[in-house]
Amino acid sequence: MKGRFFIQTFGCQMNVHDSEYMAFLLEANGYRQTNNPKEANIILLNTCAVRQKAEEKVYSLLGRLKPLKKKRPEVIIGVTGCVAQKEGQRILERMPHVDLVLGTHQFYRIAEFIETVKRERQQVCCTEFNYQLEPPQRVIPLPRQSQVRAYVTIMQGCNNFCTYCIVPYVRGREISRKSQDVIEEVKRLLDMGIKEVILLGQNVNSYGKDRKGEISFAELLRRIDKLPGLKRLRFITSHPKDISEELIQAFGELESLCEYIHLPAQSGSDRILKLMNRKYTRSEYLRKIEALRKVRPNLAISTDLIVGFPGETEEDFKQTLSLLKEVEYDTIFAFKYSDRPPAKAVNFKGKIPEDVKKERLEELLEFQAPITQRKNQALEGKVVEVLLDTNSKRGNQLSGRTRCHRVVNVAAPKQLIGQIVQVKIEEALAHSLRGRIIN
Ligand code: 5AD
Ligand code: SF4
Repeated sequence: MKGRFFIQTFGCQMNVHDSEYMAFLLEANGYRQTNNPKEANIILLNTCAVRQKAEEKVYSLLGRLKPLKKKRPEVIIGVTGCVAQKEGQRILERMPHVDLVLGTHQFYRIAEFIETVKRERQQVCCTEFNYQLEPPQRVIPLPRQSQVRAYVTIMQGCNNFCTYCIVPYVRGREISRKSQDVIEEVKRLLDMGIKEVILLGQNVNSYGKDRKGEISFAELLRRIDKLPGLKRLRFITSHPKDISEELIQAFGELESLCEYIHLPAQSGSDRILKLMNRKYTRSEYLRKIEALRKVRPNLAISTDLIVGFPGETEEDFKQTLSLLKEVEYDTIFAFKYSDRPPAKAVNFKGKIPEDVKKERLEELLEFQAPITQRKNQALEGKVVEVLLDTNSKRGNQLSGRTRCHRVVNVAAPKQLIGQIVQVKIEEALAHSLRGRIIN
């Protein structure tokens, strides 16, 4: 064994999966993962830059690692992911105790770069974008997070350039993986007993468009749905403008495709949507939701919303509240706008004061809370299908998810992890459901 590594992941599922992948590569190269940073020889921070707060967290944790590096200079400290891509060399200048900075197109070379740091004993930074190289096939024999569900990256990057968003700058342009590779990976995961597959991409609806002759996203779903052993199929994230007629049909037809979609609206005001460069209007967004609900009446929908985008008036904000009322989302994720240079909105006029953003965020969350609660309570007394996946925080309980992505806790022995059971919902709590297995 060459040493122990510890990975701290920030941000989205994409990062969680990239961390799993780095762990796999390091283990394949003779290192062992540890959950205890104190016993690690390598400490990696896989970072998120999507909002300012996320980036601040990274710098603050790096600052706290300084005494450790002073005490044990042989420990290698590395930064990967979006902050690494955005800041590059600046991290090494601001934080001289950091050894390695690896960008979003380079993290799969983690083992090679660790060797370089060990050999040369100097700071290393590589943040080049690489569009020539086919992303290596990500087949992970033992998914770390769960033996029950697995993430599969189908594409990376984004071409949309929403004016608030840093992703196209730090993840680069869209690159789809070959559909044969994706399908092959899913098959292998199913052979290992995985029941649920979650396809990942910044903008999954444009899957394949960057590859000549490649199949569409809806066709990819259709082919994966047919694979024996697959119980549940999900995907994140979709851009509302690219929800195609074909995809809507897939929701009506494919059995494994769960009744859940995350469909970021960002705002309910046409004026703000235009400034955001979202390329859909409120009514177009609503029409897509209507069409989806028509083919899947029990479809659960969640969304992302930004409050306090530059120029957002009280009236614009009211439009966002009225969107919540109209759609009745199952859950929402809401954020205060923050400048993310070099995204375009950094230079927009009419920046909203921090206290106004805070008030709007609170109002938005308060507005949604009873809607979420009502939707959860509507499940009380109903029987739902739950895929059990983990020990719950409470002793003899297991935790799982419904097809519509709600967390359900039930009293059940550990042996049932990985099983699909029928659960009668007894109580709806603020963030989860509690029930009893009936089969
Ligand atoms: N400020 C606030 N929220 C943002 N998001 C992306 N960029 C910003 C920003 N500059 C939010 C969007 C996106 C989610 C991942 O993060 O709602 O959907
Ligand atoms: Fe960012 Fe817009 Fe691309 Fe989503 S679609 S990653 S919000 S630029």
